[in-house]
Amino acid sequence: MPVLIVCISKEHGSTQKVAEVLAGELNATILQPDEVDVESLSDYDLIGFGSGIRIARHYRELRDLVTRIPKQQQKRSFIFSTSGLGSKMWHSSLRKHLVRKGCIIQDEFWCKGIDTYGLFGLLGGVNKGRPNEQDLAEAADFARRLLNG
Ligand SMILES: Cc1cc2nc3c(=O)[nH]c(=O)nc-3n(C[C@H](O)[C@H](O)[C@H](O)COP(=O)(O)O)c2cc1C
Repeated sequence: MPVLIVCISKEHGSTQKVAEVLAGELNATILQPDEVDVESLSDYDLIGFGSGIRIARHYRELRDLVTRIPKQQQKRSFIFSTSGLGSKMWHSSLRKHLVRKGCIIQDEFWCKGIDTYGLFGLLGGVNKGRPNEQDLAEAADFARRLLNG
């Protein structure tokens, strides 16, 4: 089953760590948004979309990619992120775009990532060491559930 993971991880590489665990379980190719040939998405049975969160949304590069992809025929997809304070609630904008494009969101994964935004940076960051081993083990479980879903 060809699986693609589109990931952009700009701050601390936190979302990339999650993407690599997911890719290991799913035997997936990881590409950055600017490496994706939007016409080739039909080659994949499952596509994951992930990034860190900036001001309550996935990174612009990922959202821009989704606006460029052609309408899909019920493409199995999943969403993931790391963020400082949030949760899957930050997924709503990307989720809406993907659903409009004809994607079926099979599941979503989120975990904490080290956050050095604003005052947090002055304090040396919050969520130091995240994602940790437990987070990455949960990411692997998530990927296995996707395979069985
Ligand atoms: C400018 C900026 C804005 C951010 N906005 C949010 C936010 O709205 N909500 C949140 O929970 N985390 C926010 N964060 C924290 C990042 O989402 C978090 O550090 C994430 O794990 C970074 O992922 P990356 O290392 O994969 O790029 C923000 C960080 C920065 C630098």
